[in-house]
Amino acid sequence: MKEVLSNNINKIEISGIRRFFNKVELVPEAVSLTLGQPDFSVPENIKKAMIDAVNENKTTYTSNAGIIELRKEITKYLKGFSIEYSPNEICLTIGGSEALMDVFAALLNTGDKVLIPTPAYPAYESCTNVLGGKPVFYNLKQDFSIDIDLLDNIIKTEKPKILVLSYPSNPTGAVLSKEIRNKLYEVVRNNDIVVVSDEIYSSICFENEYYSIAQYKDIKDKVILVSGFSKMFSMTGLRLGFVCAVDSYMKGIMKMHQYNVSCAPSIAQWGAYEGLRSCLSDVEAMKKEFMKRRDYVFNRLKAMGFEVNLPQGAFYIFPKIDIFKMNSEYFCERLLNEGKVAMVPGSAFGTGGEGYMRISYSYSMQQLKEGLDRLENYLKNKI
Ligand SMILES: Cc1ncc(COP(=O)(O)O)c(C=O)c1O
Repeated sequence: MKEVLSNNINKIEISGIRRFFNKVELVPEAVSLTLGQPDFSVPENIKKAMIDAVNENKTTYTSNAGIIELRKEITKYLKGFSIEYSPNEICLTIGGSEALMDVFAALLNTGDKVLIPTPAYPAYESCTNVLGGKPVFYNLKQDFSIDIDLLDNIIKTEKPKILVLSYPSNPTGAVLSKEIRNKLYEVVRNNDIVVVSDEIYSSICFENEYYSIAQYKDIKDKVILVSGFSKMFSMTGLRLGFVCAVDSYMKGIMKMHQYNVSCAPSIAQWGAYEGLRSCLSDVEAMKKEFMKRRDYVFNRLKAMGFEVNLPQGAFYIFPKIDIFKMNSEYFCERLLNEGKVAMVPGSAFGTGGEGYMRISYSYSMQQLKEGLDRLENYLKNKI
C-alpha cells in the first residue's frame, strides 16, 4: 500500500517513556516508580472553584489567550520570580505540551535547527522533527549543568534558530544555577538565537533562589517561556499550561493555538485562577514532602552504591547504572521482569540518558520504600 503517513510523522516514534509504560502494564505485580504525576490530590479550593465554574455555566469558549483574570494572576505570580510578562504576553494552553508545539510551529521553517539538551524531556526532539526542523543536541556535564563553552561553540558552528533550556529538569532534577544563568545571558545576548525555556517544574525548586533566563529584561525579545499547572497543582489531567512571549512571537503562537484548540479548557482555567490566589501554601506543602522523599531516595541509592546527583528540583532522580554493563533499556526490563520494580530507562530521554535510569519520587513514602527494597534485593541476588 502506498505510504499514507507523512514523512515528518514517520520521523518520530511513540515516546520511550510510553513504550516502557506499556511493558510495565504487562507486569501487574510490579511497583512502578515511573510516572511524572504527583500523588497529591488537587488542592480543595481549586476543586471547589472548578465545581462552582460548572454550576455557574462558565463552560463556554474563553478568549483564545484565556481568561484575563488568570492571565493577570500569572503576571503577578511570575513577578515573584523576577520575571515580567504583561497579561497580553501570556496565552493559556492545553498543558505545557500544547505550548511547546505552538511555539515550535510558530518559529520553525523546514530545516531550521533546534539545539536541545541531552538527556531531556523527549517532546523537544519530536516537535522539531514533526515540523520538519532539525534537532541538534548539546551534552550536559556530569552534574547535568550546561557546558557554556561547548554550547557557545555549537551555536557558532551549527547556527541553530532555537535553543531549548529545560530547568528544573525532567529527568535529572538539576536546576539552573545563578552562575550558569549569568553566562547563558552573555551567550544569548551575543548570538542570533531564540531561547525556549521550559520551566514547568519551577514551583518545585528546592534551592532558596530561582534562576531563569527569562529574568533579563534586555533580552526579552529573545526568550519564550513555557510553563504550566500540571505539576504545580498536581492537576496533570486537567490540561493547563501557558506560554509567555513578546508580541512579535505571540502573534504567531496565537495563530497556531487558535486553529489547533481555540482555547484551553474554561473549567481548568477557573481552577488555576483560584489556585494562584489561595493555594500557594498547598504548593509549598507538596514541595516539603518532595524534599523528604528526595532525601530518602537519594540516601537509599547512595547506600546501595549508586553514583547519583542530589536533585535540586522537580521530582526525579537519575542514578548512573553503567557499572552493570547493560544498556539502560535492557537493565530496566530485567529489573521490571525479575525484580518487579519499574524505573524508566535513561535512553528514553535521548542518547545523553544512556547509562542512567529515571526514578520518579512523586509516589508515597511507602511505595518508594517498597520499590527501593525491591531494587536492593534484585541487585544483591541477581546481579
Ligand atoms: C519538562 C516537561 N515539559 C513539559 C511537560 C508537559 O506538561 P503537560 O502535562 O502540562 O503537557 C512535561 C510533562 O511531563 C515535562 O516533564
